[in-house]
Amino acid sequence: MSDAAAQAMPQARSEQPARLVDQLRRQATQTALRFLTCGSVDDGKSTLIGRLLYDAKLVFEDQLAALKADSKTQGSQPDGIDFALLVDGLAAEREQGITIDVAYRHFTTDRRKFMVADAPGHEQYTRNMATGASNCELAVILVDARKGVLTQTKRHSYIASLFGIRHFVLAVNKMDLVGYEEAVFADIEAAYRNFAEQLGAPSVTAFPISALKGDNVTAVSAAMPWHKGPSLLHYLEEVEVEVAEAADDGPFRLPVQWVNRPNSDFRGFSGTIASGTVYPGDRIVALPSGRESEVELVHAFAGDLPSAGPGQAVTLTLADEIDVSRGDVLCAAQQPAPMSDQLEAHLLWMSEDALIPGRQYRLKCATRTVNCVVTELKHAINANTLEHRAAKKLELNGIGVANLALSERIAFEPFAQNPTLGGFILIDRRSNATVGVGTFDFSLRRADNLVWQTLTVDKTHRAALKHQRPCVVWLTGLSGSGKSTIANLLESRLHDLHRHTYTLDGDNIRHGLTRDLGFTEADRVENVRRIGETAKLMVDAGLIVIVAFISPYRSDRRMVRSLLEQGEFVEAFVKTPLAVCETRDPKGLYKKARAGEIPNFTGIDAEYQPPEQPELTLDTLAMNAEQCVEKVLDYLRKKEVLA
Ligand code: ADX
Repeated sequence: MSDAAAQAMPQARSEQPARLVDQLRRQATQTALRFLTCGSVDDGKSTLIGRLLYDAKLVFEDQLAALKADSKTQGSQPDGIDFALLVDGLAAEREQGITIDVAYRHFTTDRRKFMVADAPGHEQYTRNMATGASNCELAVILVDARKGVLTQTKRHSYIASLFGIRHFVLAVNKMDLVGYEEAVFADIEAAYRNFAEQLGAPSVTAFPISALKGDNVTAVSAAMPWHKGPSLLHYLEEVEVEVAEAADDGPFRLPVQWVNRPNSDFRGFSGTIASGTVYPGDRIVALPSGRESEVELVHAFAGDLPSAGPGQAVTLTLADEIDVSRGDVLCAAQQPAPMSDQLEAHLLWMSEDALIPGRQYRLKCATRTVNCVVTELKHAINANTLEHRAAKKLELNGIGVANLALSERIAFEPFAQNPTLGGFILIDRRSNATVGVGTFDFSLRRADNLVWQTLTVDKTHRAALKHQRPCVVWLTGLSGSGKSTIANLLESRLHDLHRHTYTLDGDNIRHGLTRDLGFTEADRVENVRRIGETAKLMVDAGLIVIVAFISPYRSDRRMVRSLLEQGEFVEAFVKTPLAVCETRDPKGLYKKARAGEIPNFTGIDAEYQPPEQPELTLDTLAMNAEQCVEKVLDYLRKKEVLA
């Protein structure tokens, strides 16, 4: 530790100002309210926010003048002001740096500061909502009084609750269109409360409003004397929410966003504090390495700080040179975050391509990204009825509970304890698109009790004894393309060359190891996963493994590639046009498939995705089987698999 830091440490700890600053900061956040509005397209989200801003005199005069002019020409309210236009205009000036997809509007009344998350867009709506919800304390659920509680209403509420919202405001909008009838409101409120109770009884407060006319928005409406008030805005100003308490009280966590090294004298670790407070002199532990050190200084944009807490962006310098990289989590040494590579999680799927167990995705939690496979989909959840049902996959907008296996152990926390280390997104490995969001529930205990055994004899020893470099020659192609013929001939040639080999052939393996699997997409994913794992074990045993499976999906072949070391996976595309496979039809299966007797037949009514950059392409129209095998052998010689 530097002298300066050593001196600063006891001071920072004992002196009151640091505590006072914390307290003030906490109070400041407690008075602010972050909320989210949810509703279907025409429920009046924008109109409500526009009305709130306008009635609370929060619109600047020049904006107002422009708005009046715009409303006449473009708006749906030629005589009045179209408040939706106001918000759409504001949304255009999205703030930078918070998230790309969710715009946050700030406004302040004399009682409170507000931050409204506007989750725009229809396509990505669910995703934006999830992001918004995880940053907010309260959700305003808009319902059209004429339509009542819809499936959408329940979905949005469920997602908001999944991502941590405990306070719901039910705004029954367009009361003017139902004659301000109390009974209409009461029915909707009862239906909604009934549903909300199943979400673990969050607080629900209901308001009959007309965003367009202003009833009960900022002032209590004379049109609904049966509603005793307060107005919606008044309620939002007063409502007490347990703002980020968990984050404040929790142990210190800093996911490292980047290692700041402007010159060789300075090495700082930068990021936004997820929970807890850090002081110079604190013992910290870096995860996953488990190395410990002491905080030297807490730097912020404005200069060095006596302490820093949740939400603050800081750079820490440490007393020792320990290895810390982006994605690591710095934790209070006495209370490190748990680590796991097998977890149960709630998932919300957002891609047109269904989530399939066995398929590999990237998982990003805080600043760390690892590979992830859903090992088991435990059940899907109907967001409308909250019923659980068995499912083999999750379709677009599907919600479910799943077990995840990660490629590495990561620092995590259950979402309820720490939204930053408890929330994650799943990313498609190729397109980089976010395909799912989720929350960790807990670590599966089996992960804690499994320790990788290091064996004395390893792959290198086994391979050396066989005088060969083990690898997998993965033949992929349509049924009848010639994979088995090539595999058979290749193994014979290698055998003649005194190589130790083994062939895994689809039709054979499907009699045993994968006997329980059929030909749906989910089953094929699992088929390829098992074969991939088997091939990996055989490579570990020092063998040259020949695999002949249709293996129609790119992502699954890529997954197998990632199981193996660089250079061990040799993808060989057995390229035979469908028409040719169909004329050959060695097993008479195409004929049956055309006759509708075999469903999901590859090439007929199930997809085949040819490799994009295979190590080898074996064009069976241009070469016979011997020539194809020769091409493989040439490649193996070139790569020094064969000396
Ligand atoms: S994979 O798609 O999961 O990789 P695999 O190679 O194991 O398939 O099995 C393919 C073999 O199963 C084919 O050669 C064919 O003999 C047989 N088969 C039976 N039904 C189908 C089907 N619906 N689609 C493809 N092949 C099928």
